[in-house]
Amino acid sequence: MKTLDSAGPLAGRRVLVRSDLNVPMSEGRITDAGRITASAPTIRGLAEAGARVIVIAHLGRPKGEVVDALSLAPVAPALAEALGREVAFAGDTVGPEARAAVEGLADGGIVLLENLRFDPRETAKDDAARGEFADALAELADVFVSDGFGVVHRRQASVVDIAERLPAYAGGLVAAEVEVSQRLLTDPARPYAVVLGGSKVSDKLGVIDSLLERADVLAIGGGMVFTFLAAQGRAVGRSLVEADQLETARGCLAKAAERGVEILLPTDIVMAASFAADAEHWVAPVEALEETPGGAEALGLDIGPDSAAAFAERIRGARTVFWNGPMGVFEFPAFAAGTRAVAEALTTVHGGAEEGRLTVVGGGDSAAAVRALGFVDEQFGHISTGGGASLEYLEGRTLPGLSVLEG
Ligand code: 3PG
Repeated sequence: MKTLDSAGPLAGRRVLVRSDLNVPMSEGRITDAGRITASAPTIRGLAEAGARVIVIAHLGRPKGEVVDALSLAPVAPALAEALGREVAFAGDTVGPEARAAVEGLADGGIVLLENLRFDPRETAKDDAARGEFADALAELADVFVSDGFGVVHRRQASVVDIAERLPAYAGGLVAAEVEVSQRLLTDPARPYAVVLGGSKVSDKLGVIDSLLERADVLAIGGGMVFTFLAAQGRAVGRSLVEADQLETARGCLAKAAERGVEILLPTDIVMAASFAADAEHWVAPVEALEETPGGAEALGLDIGPDSAAAFAERIRGARTVFWNGPMGVFEFPAFAAGTRAVAEALTTVHGGAEEGRLTVVGGGDSAAAVRALGFVDEQFGHISTGGGASLEYLEGRTLPGLSVLEG
């Protein structure tokens, strides 16, 4: 992979940087700036080297239409703050505003262009349409830097097609993310524990399959646990179950047994009378989830304290840990204890970095969860900015946004 180190002097050159600034927002405010902070060093480095920096990014999935709530305008001041430098904003991507802003850039200047996905050609399936948009983006710059790790699994104009049109290099964030992901995939120090959460088994199937070839322990929490419990014949009340994934869940359990990989499922669950922050709740053993106050109407919203302790113990005993997906509905304090326990255990593993230990928090949700619970990035070995991209990498798939940088 060609990295920025091989790009030669960039002073005075127009450099187009694809970052992943897809941050969670609520009522126009950024609720977790992790991706902005992670993107800042590459952009700052380029500006300090005297490049004229044009940052391109997306927010949400506007499906080719201008959606005011998905404008990147509020991200420009947040990026400026993270950089400690001014950031101009252009209200289009390849239109007159962007062209004028780029023309007006001084050496070391930075402009952020509007949401790429307001243009339908960015995400078009049709190669020619994407190519046309990439041509227009390429006209703005002399060099392309791919630094949005969260999008390298997308075949989109600003990720793949543009890299075929300009001299293209991986930025520091992409290079660092690839290095860590590669260690998880090919060279994990053992024992290697993986903790998976989140709501859907169907989203994680590929990665579970691949990790069963590599990990020593796979702990499963979050909403997807109920599909596994149901697959084992347990009654789970109204908890989230993907009925069409029961067979697959059984297949995973069988494959794990065959390969000698330990699958750790919760032994107790925090059940609730309804899906609400202030819902009545209680802890129930997995064999009796419906034999509690809420009966078959209750639903599970977190792993229970015994399970959290068991997960934490395995994490502490591991030398490599990959965690993706919260253990429960951490946004409600009553159901955050499982996620907190996993995060806390991870911070103790990182304490042993000198022994070749590595902890990786992958996925936007888990990263936002640890920050929302008051942890700081430095307590973990690596907090990945990639959600789907990290998972696809760990599945061993070829990511188009990375292979295009090989040439
Ligand atoms: C992400 O949030 O994982 C990335 O920004 C990619 O977004 P997408 O799934 O909408 O392509």
